[in-house]
Amino acid sequence: MPLPEIRLDVRRRDFLRWLAASPLLASAGGLAGLEPVIAQEAPQRTLDDLVETAQEALDVFDLQRVAAEQVPTAHWGYIMTGVDGEETQANNRAGLERMYLRARRMIDVSSLDTTVALFDREWPTPLMIAPCGYQRAFHPDGELATARAAAARTHLQTLSTVTSTAVEEVNDARGEPVWYQLYARPNWEGTVALVRRSVDAGCPVLVLTVDLNGGSNRLTLERYRRVDDRDCASCHRSGGRADPVRPMLRGLPRGVSDGSSGASMTWAYVDRLRSVTDQKIIVKGLVTAEDAELALRTGVDGIWVSNHGGRAEGDGRATIDALPEISRVVGGRVPVIVDGGFRRGTDLFKGIARGATAVAVGRPYLWGLGAFGQEGVERALQILTRELEITMRAVGTPSLADIGPHSVGVD
Ligand SMILES: Cc1cc2nc3c(=O)[nH]c(=O)nc-3n(C[C@H](O)[C@H](O)[C@H](O)COP(=O)(O)O)c2cc1C
Repeated sequence: MPLPEIRLDVRRRDFLRWLAASPLLASAGGLAGLEPVIAQEAPQRTLDDLVETAQEALDVFDLQRVAAEQVPTAHWGYIMTGVDGEETQANNRAGLERMYLRARRMIDVSSLDTTVALFDREWPTPLMIAPCGYQRAFHPDGELATARAAAARTHLQTLSTVTSTAVEEVNDARGEPVWYQLYARPNWEGTVALVRRSVDAGCPVLVLTVDLNGGSNRLTLERYRRVDDRDCASCHRSGGRADPVRPMLRGLPRGVSDGSSGASMTWAYVDRLRSVTDQKIIVKGLVTAEDAELALRTGVDGIWVSNHGGRAEGDGRATIDALPEISRVVGGRVPVIVDGGFRRGTDLFKGIARGATAVAVGRPYLWGLGAFGQEGVERALQILTRELEITMRAVGTPSLADIGPHSVGVD
């Protein structure tokens, strides 16, 4: 069933103007304290300097500002939310910003090698598209726009379990099977059905996300939801067989938990998955060396260092700071992917320097999607790739292999 057209009549700017005119504001201490999280991500500029085309965007924050105007209020809250007071989300950025680059001079950087091999496939860049759910809530073309952008610029894309477009259609748009991210279903039977569908669709890699098993406390999402007066129930009524926004869950047995997943999941679950699929298995959401060690013992094919962009749990630690202990334990045996707060080419560089094989982004490409659809996603990927190349030249590291712990520092 097609999603209802996205309505743009509830606008944050209108809401803020209304607030600014409200006598309540004087006693509330001013507007600045009332707008959550956005300021933390985007450097402050006036509201009127929005770019009009994707190509005009100079950094991913230009795309963020346009997306903030385009995406319906509650959906914007869903993109931007962290948990609690957004401390972990902020620390993802702070961890990266604390680091500096140790730039070397007089090195021939006239040609660059940014290729990276992941399993049987070589990619021209280590920049990956992280799995993000419900993309048709941000633009009518949703995951198809992202897949076309990924194809146009040859980036690895991982598709969320809660994609708003079915994996088969996304693979067609991408031109090759994407990696498939798995949220384990409440019952094993449902999980197996989902995994089999991803196998049938040709997805070579299963990314099991494990950082949401305990639930999450997303206050910003709730705040934005409360000021959005659209009829959410028309899309969000979820019912197994007719789920209008999560096509991968349609027809799966819902609601009946057999205690195999969620809060009761342990490493045995990975063994169990192994028994039903030959796909490579990556575990997403690890932030400690101990868990990396256990993951390797379980025989995982890759580790994805992530705190879900600060929107799963509030451990407070930047993923860039968790990365070194994990890369040390892994010692190059399996690929290590990292995400969380990567917004510039210098950030990607820092991730590689601390041992990541590849770096994934979530919000930056969603901003591109919300702002300009496929073109916006392409622009986000292009900006970040170009910035990485500039950084590699500036620091004197002509290939990814030249980037290492010696390339960065922290005061
Ligand atoms: C709107 C949104 C939806 C997300 N949905 C999923 C999801 O369905 N599955 C998943 O494993 N991670 C999901 N994530 C987390 C991303 O895969 C990724 O870990 C995170 O966005 C990286 O941080 P960044 O947004 O700061 O780049 C989502 C993130 C966002 C922002």
